[in-house]
Formats: sequence, C-alpha cells, structure tokens
Amino acid sequence: MSRAAKLVAAIAVSDLTERQARSEHARLAQEIGRHDKLYHQQDAPEIADSDYDALRRRLNEIETRFPGLSDLASPSRRVAPPPVETFAKVVHAKPMLSLDNAFSEADVTEFVARVRRALERDIELAADAEVALACEPKIDGLSISLRYESGVLVRGATRGDGAEGEDVTSNLRTIADIPAKLRGRVPAVLEVRGEAYMERAAFAELNARQAAADEKPFANPRNAAAGSLRQLDPTITAARPLRFFAYSWGEVDRLGWERQSEFLERAAGWGFAVNRRSAVCRSVAETMAYYARLGEERASLPYDIDGVVYKVDRLDWQERLGFASRAPRWAIAHKFPAEQVRTRLRAISIQVGRTGALTPVAELEPVSVGGVMVARATLHNAEEIARLDVREGDLVTIQRAGDVIPQVLAVVLPERPRGARPYAFPESCPCPLKTPVAAAEGGVVRRCSGGLECPFQQVERLRHLVSRQAFDIEGLGGTHIEAFWRDGWIRTPADLFRLPARETEIAAREGWGETSAARLVGAIEARRTIGFDRFLNGIGIPLIGEATARLLAEEYRDADAWLSEMLAAVAERAAHPETIRKEKAAVEVGPAFGRLCNIDQIGVTTADAMVAFFAEGRTVEVIRDLRGQLTVQPYERRVIGDGKLKGEVVVFTGELKTAGRDAAKARAEALGAKVTDSVSRKTTLVVAGEKAGSKARKAAELGIRTLTEAEWLALAGES
Ligand code: IVH
Repeated sequence: MSRAAKLVAAIAVSDLTERQARSEHARLAQEIGRHDKLYHQQDAPEIADSDYDALRRRLNEIETRFPGLSDLASPSRRVAPPPVETFAKVVHAKPMLSLDNAFSEADVTEFVARVRRALERDIELAADAEVALACEPKIDGLSISLRYESGVLVRGATRGDGAEGEDVTSNLRTIADIPAKLRGRVPAVLEVRGEAYMERAAFAELNARQAAADEKPFANPRNAAAGSLRQLDPTITAARPLRFFAYSWGEVDRLGWERQSEFLERAAGWGFAVNRRSAVCRSVAETMAYYARLGEERASLPYDIDGVVYKVDRLDWQERLGFASRAPRWAIAHKFPAEQVRTRLRAISIQVGRTGALTPVAELEPVSVGGVMVARATLHNAEEIARLDVREGDLVTIQRAGDVIPQVLAVVLPERPRGARPYAFPESCPCPLKTPVAAAEGGVVRRCSGGLECPFQQVERLRHLVSRQAFDIEGLGGTHIEAFWRDGWIRTPADLFRLPARETEIAAREGWGETSAARLVGAIEARRTIGFDRFLNGIGIPLIGEATARLLAEEYRDADAWLSEMLAAVAERAAHPETIRKEKAAVEVGPAFGRLCNIDQIGVTTADAMVAFFAEGRTVEVIRDLRGQLTVQPYERRVIGDGKLKGEVVVFTGELKTAGRDAAKARAEALGAKVTDSVSRKTTLVVAGEKAGSKARKAAELGIRTLTEAEWLALAGES
C-alpha cells in the first residue's frame, strides 16, 4: 500500500472526503477481491475471517455514506468471485446469498429491533408481539445447492458467485448425507441448500495422508472440504469423508411449510442430515443463552462452527422483510470470538529477537484454531514458562484471537506424560556464535550478548527495519532477507540501501526477474526519504517501539541533533554510573541523560538500555552509515482531525475488533492525542478492548477514565 493510501486507511469513514473515499473504496474492493479469490478459488486464505469481515464492514460503511460508489462491480454486490473454469456452470434458479454478521449482543439486539420496526411498519405488528427466531449453528464449510426433480437428485452445485456456481453433481453423489432419492411426499421441484463440511478427525487424517504422499496439507477443514469437492475425479472425492447439513432451500414449486423450523423437520423426513442443535428462541435473552451454550459446546463438536445463524422463523415475515443486495434482512450470523483448543506441545524452541532477547516458542502439534492452522505459539519468557509450569510433551490449551498471535493458556495437568521435566532455559544463544546469555530488564528477559555481531540478531533487525511500522519496504519479506544475508549482501541497515546497485544481480536470482527486481528497487528508493520517527523505530533500539519512537522524535525533532544528544548521554552516564531516580537524572547525571529520562514513558531502565546500546562497539557507526544513505525528515506532528483529543494521553490495550490497534492509534493521534504504550499517572484515557489485562487493571487502580471499544469509536467519531 502506498503511504498516502495508508494514511487514508487510518481515517474514520465519517471523516473521509469524497476523493479519499473513492480511493479507499477502490483499495478495499481490490483487497476484498483478492481475498475472495484466495478463499474461494484457491482454498488458501491469507487473513483471518475476522480481518476479512473488518474490510467488508469498512467498505459497506463507505458505500452507506457515499452511495454513488456502490457500482455493480463492488464486492458488496458480489458474494464471491466467479467460479474457476474446470466445471460446467450452473445458473442458480434463485440466487444463493450470504449473511450479514453480528459480533456482539448489541449487534443482535439492533438486528431484532430493525426486524421489529420493519414489521411494525409493514404489517402493524404489535409492540408486544413475539418474533420467534430459528437459531442454528453456523457450519464452517461451503454452501451447496441440490436440485431434486420428483424426489430424485438431478444436479448439485457450489455457490460460486451466488448467481452462478459449478456443477459438482458427481462429487456430491459420493456424500452419504446427501440422499440420491428423497423419502415421502416431496415437491416436484425442490432445491435443498446446506453446508458441505469435513469433520475435524477426518481432516486430520486427510492431512496425515497428504503429508505421507508429500502433498501440501490443507489449512483447515473448510479448505479441505472445498478442495475435495472441486476434484475433477469423483473417486478422489469419494475417498474424502465429506458430510452435509441441510438448512435452506432455493427453487420449490410448492412451498409446503410456513416456518424455517418446520422446513428443518421436513428435510429430516426426506432423509437429510439436519443439525439437531437447531432451536427456536423467542427473545433476545433466549438467543443469547443459545449462543452462550453453543459457544461452550463448540470445542467438543466434531466439526467446526464459526457462529450462530438467527433467522426470522415465520416465512411470511421473511418475505415482508426481503433482501438487501447481498444478504437477507431476515437473518444474521452471530460470529464467535477466538476459539480455544487443546494440542500437544512437542518442544520448546528458542527464537532470537532483533535486540537479542531470547524468546521461548511452543512448537505444537498443528491444530486448526478459528480456521487457521497453528503450529507455534509464543511462551514469552522463562517466567511465563515457570508460571504455566509448561513442559515438553504436555497437552496445552491454546487460543488465537483475530490478528493476535497464538498463545498458550494453560497446561492440562492430568494429561501430563510421565517423566516430563521442568524446562531448563539455555545458557547460550542458539546462534553459531553461541554467546553466553545474560539476564536483562530486571531479570525477566534473557539476552544474547553478541550484540550487532550475532547473525540471528542481524537478520531480525533487518526484518524489523523493513516492516510496516518502520521503513515499510514492500516486497522484501523475511525469506528474501535471509537469502540476501546468507549471500553476504546485507549485514547492516545501510546495506539495504545498497541493494539497488545490485539490481541486475537480483533480477538474475532464482524466483526473481527484471520486473520484481525493479519493483524492489523502486520500493527501496521510495524510502530513501524517511520521517524521523520511522527512522528511529527502524533502527531497532532495545525497548523502543513505535509509540516511544514517536515520543523521542517529538522531543528531538531532528536525527543529527538526536544522535549527538545520545552520545552526550552515554558520556554522562559513564561518568555517573550510580543508581539514580528519574526525577534527579538531570542533576545527578547530566543534561543529556536528564532530557532523555524526562520523556514520558522513558524511565531510567529504558534510558540505560539505550545508553548501553549506543555504548556498544559498532552501534554509532551502523547508525551513521544508515543515516548517510537517507534523507531524514524532521518530525512533524500530524493533526488532521479537529484536535478534539488534544492534551489527552491515551493507552490502547486488549484486542480492538473494529479497526485494529494501529488504526486506532493513528486515529487518536490524528485527533491530537498523545499515544503511549504503558499506563502511568500521566495517562488520561485508556481504551480497553477484549481481553485487556494488567494495563486496564492499573488504569482502574489509578482511577483513569477507561473506555470500551464501542465507547472509543463513539468518541473518535467512528461509530
Ligand atoms: S442460511 C440466505 N444457515 O454461512 C441465507 N447459512 O455467511 C442463506 N452457513 O453462505 C444462508 N451454516 O455457507 C445459513 N445454518 C446456516 C448456515 C449457513 C453455515 C453458511 C452458508 C452461508 C454463509 C453466510
């Protein structure tokens, strides 16, 4: 994404100018189209469903505000990209639609209120009349339409783009849950719709077979089901244990039922598998209880579900309510939050970070969590391992929430294998230099003492430098960095900016070519001019992240002035190495060290870590070398909104569902707030998303105003 596009992406929909909205709409449409293809045609999604939903939500909001933008090509009019060419096409007699999503009880309440309002208006529904909802598990598979004529299966098709799907009849005939002939009295023409899916156990077996045959494993049961149905050879499909639940219908010549719940009974009578957890609820409270119950059962079900579908039970009311362009107004999907699952911890390995911190990583028996295969999870540090008392071989509970990295929650102690030993943290860095490990930051962190010489650190530093929040060099992924590093082309940050001189050599490498080499050179050259805050973040100073880098940039404004201040601080601290207090730093150590300590969020520990970094042999040389390759622009605070958060010091914590944390930070800053990483007495506002932990507790202790995500969105003008 270009820099300009990224700025626009951080703006609330309500604040977009028409021009910005147009370009943002185009970007989102393209992005969604790409993910649709990955998901529907290649069965290889790159992002979590929740992230995809967020993209769609933003697109919809833009279209609501600027209706002129919702042309026919917009993804909001499409359900999925057109089918791949290999199967015959089937035009659905009735379109196969999608569902709108609800993410909270408030969303569901709003849905029910909307339904009531429409019915009160159209059919004078009494204010106290009951609106029964058919509640069903939302099966995570792929939807299928089956056409029966005189009770005999004549054709089965995938959803495709909703209007036109693929004819996969021969494959569907191999599924035992799909009757070839229906029982009892059946309409002459009947299209039954439902979900084809694969049970988790079958999925695991299939993947084991794939691995044994050296074939690529499937990411999750849904992709395995989709991949299996799209086999051109039905004998392969037959060998894949697919299942099917019926939950809806398409064309029917005579509708013999009046409610959704009644349809499910009929379908079961005809010989279909229907989900026996379906139920009718008569109030929002009942639907919430249903949702909670299913959420509890979720992990123990033999198949993946990703939420609950609520449908207005009465069909005459459904008809009144009708459809919007993509989804019915009478139904909504209530999505589940992050899923927790159990898996075996095979081993604990050690990862070396950019500043040499050794992070223990759980190497897990791969499992699907929330639709994504997880094989690794961070264990943070030795203390966390001790707290969990997690040992190699243990059965553990893990979770993955949206874009958050997977984490180990607990050990299932009764399942601990005999002879499992407490974990012993290594005494030396796993890098080829095998340098001794030292405790740092109050003993919690173990660091490799190899500094800039440690090869693992070098690679991680470079990876950090090109990352999105730092220099944001597109098209230079981790594997490229490792490959260039192995060939000795890049060792230090400045070397990255010497890569353009190797354009021809890069083009000649395997997997490259002139176009991609030229693109990479373009991306690097584009960052030769860089903001001071990104420069600071990119260097990879210990304990300095994006937010602190911005505070430093704000204080020193200019790269050269900053560098000489750092050198002065090093000299001052060397002359006064004694233990001191933050408030006394200027008097007891010196003006440069004092100025550093005086910055909000930077205490003596951080200042000392910075000083130690600058005192290290080659640090200054490496930074000067990089500086020499660049034009570093002095820092300017960007206030684009109305500055209504001026003077506020804001901390974001927990998981933000709507826009993600980066966007929320950008939004807060655009409104004039200062964003910091940790809660202190200077903090004036804390935004606590889901699973907010110690920061939210500290805020409560200090009596700092704390907002939920929804309240924040309202304050920031984004709801
Ligand atoms: S009803 C017009 N019921 O979810 C409404 N869909 O996100 C048609 N799904 O395309 C859908 N379980 O693939 C319905 N019990 C259920 C479902 C269900 C899973 C899927 C289906 C649909 C998608 C929408």
